[in-house]
Amino acid sequence: MLTLIKNISSLATCSANGELFKTGSQMQNVGEIKNAAILFDSKIRWIGLNQEYKNILSGSNIKEFRSIDAANKAVIPGFIDSHTHLVFGGNRSDEFAKRMRGATYREIAEQGGGIQHTVRETRAASEEQLFASAEKLINNAIKHGTTAFETKSGYGLDTKTELKILRVIKKLRKEKKLQISSTFLGAHDFPPEYSGRRDEYIDLICEEMLPQVVEHGLAEFCDAFVDQGYYTIEQGEKIFQGATDLGLKLKVHADELACVNGAELAARMGAVSADHLLFISDSGIENMKKSGTIATFLPGTAYFIRLPYAPARKILKNGNIVALATDCNPGSCFTENMQQILSLATLNMNMTAEEALNAATINAAAAICKSDSMGSLEVGKDANFLVLDGASYTDIFYHFGVNHVSQTWINGELAMVNG
Ligand code: NIG
Ligand code: FE
Repeated sequence: MLTLIKNISSLATCSANGELFKTGSQMQNVGEIKNAAILFDSKIRWIGLNQEYKNILSGSNIKEFRSIDAANKAVIPGFIDSHTHLVFGGNRSDEFAKRMRGATYREIAEQGGGIQHTVRETRAASEEQLFASAEKLINNAIKHGTTAFETKSGYGLDTKTELKILRVIKKLRKEKKLQISSTFLGAHDFPPEYSGRRDEYIDLICEEMLPQVVEHGLAEFCDAFVDQGYYTIEQGEKIFQGATDLGLKLKVHADELACVNGAELAARMGAVSADHLLFISDSGIENMKKSGTIATFLPGTAYFIRLPYAPARKILKNGNIVALATDCNPGSCFTENMQQILSLATLNMNMTAEEALNAATINAAAAICKSDSMGSLEVGKDANFLVLDGASYTDIFYHFGVNHVSQTWINGELAMVNG
């Protein structure tokens, strides 16, 4: 059904004017229209000044439509969370408490906690249990303004469980009628049964897991955790070459715990994005700019495991493509709330509100290769947007720690109303 929302005090389009992403000074512009209206069915049909909508409706002979008064609230594109790990078993709140008593993320992992803890719980969980816990996170994310997701496997580390997780993602996409891009992350850690035989596990990934993932159409991207104590550059390269040969696109967990030149690897392999980048080198920044690899910042992780933030100002100044995402996962960043991420990006990474909003919408859509159909409010794109409580997008940053989303619209349908 055709719907008109009128009396919008401020509508941020985040449009890249026909381009698929924004960089440099364009990041300061959110394409704000004051006193706006929007007409849409599942796609956006028209956006303009409030005073123009009557002419548009009569000029196009539109008689049947539903009209909603925004009562001077703001509208922004729905957030796109381009890096999450939503499908897992169990809960690691005990590890969080240990960390607050002084243990580090790395120490907990070395004692068999961390990712290995979640692997044990995920192997033991049924598909129904995994579906229910991921659905709960997705519903809460929608409440907080997320309208499209990327999510990964990686808590199975054996063929059976990795495929189980990817099937759950497929079912979530179908049942929730949402864009949920799927990433195979068999190279998240090494399984305990391959202790001392790491290269044999890499052979398993390349010879058994990747072919089955592709055969069953279960993933669009392949990712690997290339970092100190996890996958080396050579191991990452082997997996990425195998994935590329089978037609998958690449994402990389790069330079999160130490500088291992994961960003350079991402650039060399033509990855769509390299994510984390807390310890990225100068050559990593330069090479990613040349290859057009998107730098996805996950400030929630630096906050949650108390590491230094990625050098956002340096990377933005260099003109790289920058996106923001939650990294929602049970260990290093347990939040599904993109507004919290925007707050951290501004206050702790010195990004402007406009840079943060563009990074969480149009550029985040580019990070899942979907910015031709979502991520900004432009005629012909999916009608995925948020009606906020306040009169401007700046309220999200100014009034922190509360949910500003009053309505979440996905594909022209009201997916959630708050209050
Ligand atoms: O993105 N970096 C690797 N993986 C996750 C952490 C996973 C976990 O602790 O369960 C991340 O930070
Ligand atoms: Fe991650």
